[in-house]
Amino acid sequence: MTTGPYPTTRFRRTKRTDALRRMVREHTLSVDDLIWPIFIRDGEDDETPVPSMPGVARLTVDRAVRAAETAAGLGVPAICLFPYIDTSLKTEACEEAWNPDNLSNRATRAIKAAVPEIAIMTDVALDPYNINGHDGIVKDDVILNDESVEALVKMTVAQADAGADIIGPSDMMDGRIGAMRSALEAASHQDVCILSYAAKYASAFYGPFRDAVGASGLLKGDKKTYQMDPGNSDEALRLVERDLREGADMVMVKPGMPYLDICRRVSDAFGAPVAAYQVSGEYAMIKGAAERGWIDGDKAMLESLLAFKRAGCDAILTYFAVDVARTLG
Ligand code: PBG
Repeated sequence: MTTGPYPTTRFRRTKRTDALRRMVREHTLSVDDLIWPIFIRDGEDDETPVPSMPGVARLTVDRAVRAAETAAGLGVPAICLFPYIDTSLKTEACEEAWNPDNLSNRATRAIKAAVPEIAIMTDVALDPYNINGHDGIVKDDVILNDESVEALVKMTVAQADAGADIIGPSDMMDGRIGAMRSALEAASHQDVCILSYAAKYASAFYGPFRDAVGASGLLKGDKKTYQMDPGNSDEALRLVERDLREGADMVMVKPGMPYLDICRRVSDAFGAPVAAYQVSGEYAMIKGAAERGWIDGDKAMLESLLAFKRAGCDAILTYFAVDVARTLG
């Protein structure tokens, strides 16, 4: 033990000035840690605000390109695309998900062409394309695992063909990472990364996101037969180990702040790159309270993100990414 009794040890000595505090600080937040999720929609030079996520809007592809330029200019290393799909394109078989010219793939091509320096992460899950709002194919009220994996693999290859740098499977079906990794190898996409949503919980904090992608009204039931039970912790380690063995390069814990204990356990156990997703509900809580003057929004934003670094995360998906990059200067 290196800590002697008072007054030999006084913890306030290293807290006295900003210089001393900075010198002994263990963790810092950097723009390099950030992945910026954005919502995209069809149309031209337009955007639609998402009411439950103040400051966030669905952007048309041309505006998404400009957003990517802004992010890259501020040093944000990656952007993550989530499409808002017109209801007329949603079906039970979800074919639009692997259409090479769907909204997400068009946006990937446009951003790649204009802003090659930013990494593009794409979402692999069927919910934006599914008439019943689920991440997998539904038959007689059951979410079919293996049929869903087949669809997700087609979606993955189409996204890699379009130029995605990082594939982000957020679906939580079993066996999808191995199937995606083999398909990527077979399609000469051996250098495409997979950031697996490995420990993704069935959470109430996704509400505003489901509004943003237009899945809220459609979702029948809940996602408890594939997403994790919030009461579990050991299971997260088994899922992470499974996904790493199947070919994930990085793993994610989601949501973020209510699951910092999971971030820490995963980081300690594997030493693989770990990301956390500060999800829509976490963002909405901070924004909503700040708008009412109940908390200092900028300070709460920075403190909430630093917590992920302290918990052992290497990267953070956050809707605040561009605000943070500006604040960090
Ligand atoms: C679904 C998906 C969700 C999020 C990312 N991908 C929601 C869900 O599982 O219902 C949530 C992200 C957020 O809340 O910010 N594939």
